[in-house]
Amino acid sequence: MLPLKEKDKPIVQKLLSAGCCARCVLRFCCVTIQAAYRQAQHETLEELKAFITEKESNVSQTSTYEHNKSQDAALSETVEDPPCKRAKLVPTLTVQSEAGSAAVVTLRNVESHIAETVKAQNYMFDTMVLSVSLPAQLCVREHSCWLHVKKEVREKGLVLDRDDVIQVKEAFKWVMQGLVTKELGSVAVVSKSPFEVGVEFTHPETESDCHFLAKSCPDCFKPTKNKQSVFTRMAVVKALEKISDARFLQHYPSPPLEPSSSCTPQDIQCLHMSVFIAGRYNKFCRSLPQTPWVIDGERRMESSVEELIAAPILSAFRADGFNFSSSGREDVDVRTLGNGRPFAMELLNPHRSRFSKEEMKQLQETINESSDKVRVRDLQIVTREAMSRMKEGEEEKTKTYTALVWTQKAIEKEDITFINDIKDLTLDQKTPLRVLHRRTLAIRQRVIHSMNARYVDSHHFYLGLKTQAGTYIKEFVHGDFGRTKPNLCQLLKTDTDILELDVESVDVDWPPPIPE
Ligand SMILES: *[C@@H]1O[C@H](CO)[C@@H](O)[C@H](O)[C@H]1NC(C)=O
Ligand SMILES: *[C@@H]1O[C@H](CO)[C@@H](O)[C@H](O)[C@H]1NC(C)=O
Ligand SMILES: *[C@@H]1O[C@H](CO)[C@@H](O)[C@H](O)[C@H]1NC(C)=O
Ligand SMILES: *[C@@H]1O[C@H](CO)[C@@H](O)[C@H](O)[C@H]1NC(C)=O
Repeated sequence: MLPLKEKDKPIVQKLLSAGCCARCVLRFCCVTIQAAYRQAQHETLEELKAFITEKESNVSQTSTYEHNKSQDAALSETVEDPPCKRAKLVPTLTVQSEAGSAAVVTLRNVESHIAETVKAQNYMFDTMVLSVSLPAQLCVREHSCWLHVKKEVREKGLVLDRDDVIQVKEAFKWVMQGLVTKELGSVAVVSKSPFEVGVEFTHPETESDCHFLAKSCPDCFKPTKNKQSVFTRMAVVKALEKISDARFLQHYPSPPLEPSSSCTPQDIQCLHMSVFIAGRYNKFCRSLPQTPWVIDGERRMESSVEELIAAPILSAFRADGFNFSSSGREDVDVRTLGNGRPFAMELLNPHRSRFSKEEMKQLQETINESSDKVRVRDLQIVTREAMSRMKEGEEEKTKTYTALVWTQKAIEKEDITFINDIKDLTLDQKTPLRVLHRRTLAIRQRVIHSMNARYVDSHHFYLGLKTQAGTYIKEFVHGDFGRTKPNLCQLLKTDTDILELDVESVDVDWPPPIPE
């Protein structure tokens, strides 16, 4: 039984006699029970017809509407004996009944069309959101239909708030969700899901329906860059809000004319929300940039840390692309040892998004084995929000390094022991010459918390440093023509240079370690 009340009767009569489809009648009666829209249109139509011909005697008397029997009878008559055409052409009056009509005439095709498209793209998902974009001119037809109903509502002294009328889009989705669910098997079509299927409908036959609005509200229709037509949904809605009923009715019939065709799905797009993945990487190679290195459009170095890590991940998640970020970065000739450097990646439009712990470990192994240049640990799926933890307070974090230092003057073991006693040495670092092209010129203060020296031979020693993040180590060692002060040359009173540099630890406690 349809949940209709006595007060709905005149509206049902009015719309049916104008040739409106059964589902649109339900919309204007503000029926919110989704199942009512899902049942076959012809059944709904039968019920509606039975409802209006049924004498008022045995209908729930919840309405405040005072019956006018003679009028009621007169209206019933027109419906009891409808022109054949109307009876046959259920979905007619409006394009919104047209969407209803898409629902009747081409519904089978639409839902299997959607299902086929989704299947062909090979996504792994168990819920999906269906988003529908209906032609803008539908708003005009809906408005026309509303004026038709409004007239009736006024005359009968009924109460109907336009906001309570169910939107075509909603009703259409209610119908479609069930059908698509059926087509796709175990997938639930829901209102919130990371996987979205967007269907755009067009209806060429009625495309010019909104053109008259351009005259009544020229301001509403301004050309915008990436839209082919000025008649966007937003613009049409705005113009309809401005136009008076009288003016509208001068230009557009109410009720609207019956269209002869249905809306057709023009474009079906699938999009899965980004998945975020994090971990820590080691880099064991002194000729590997962190990101692709391109100078004047020409590629230097055949690979990069991000590409070596991303390739197996992209293929496992079957994603369209990625954004890589990390907690700081190392130079092309610097190794990253110890527990590695935290990194995170946004995977764009992944076709697969769920991995078990075992599968993640497997993926980590694949990365580890794909080259001897990088290794990854603590690989895990994280939330977008958690990613910001990596960048949080980055400046305050500490890093430890080992540098192989050359001295011009010959040194003895005792010459470098004083280094071990230096604590919290504050440096003034003018932006290094080598990064001036990408960083603004400034003097930055950085702190070296502690150092230790390990003698190698008369011209070499290993210098261990624990520093504030962002300290330029190479510049501290060679002085950068006095741009970093104090520097190691000054401390040792001889020229020094850096031959090798390793990052030993990046003290950021994110992402959390994954126990082996
Ligand atoms: C109204 O219909 C119900 C069943 O739908 C029935 O039980 C009841 O007797 C009817 N009342 C009148 C006044 O006909
Ligand atoms: C009922 O409708 C008839 C015909 O439309 C009209 O003449 C009559 O005045 C109406 N009666 C009431 C009480 O509204
Ligand atoms: C991620 O990458 C895409 C294209 O690759 C880009 O459009 C987007 O702005 C990037 N997002 C972030 C947060 O960097
Ligand atoms: C990958 O390499 C890292 C660093 O050596 C190691 O900690 C991790 O256990 C390895 N993971 C797998 C699955 O091989």
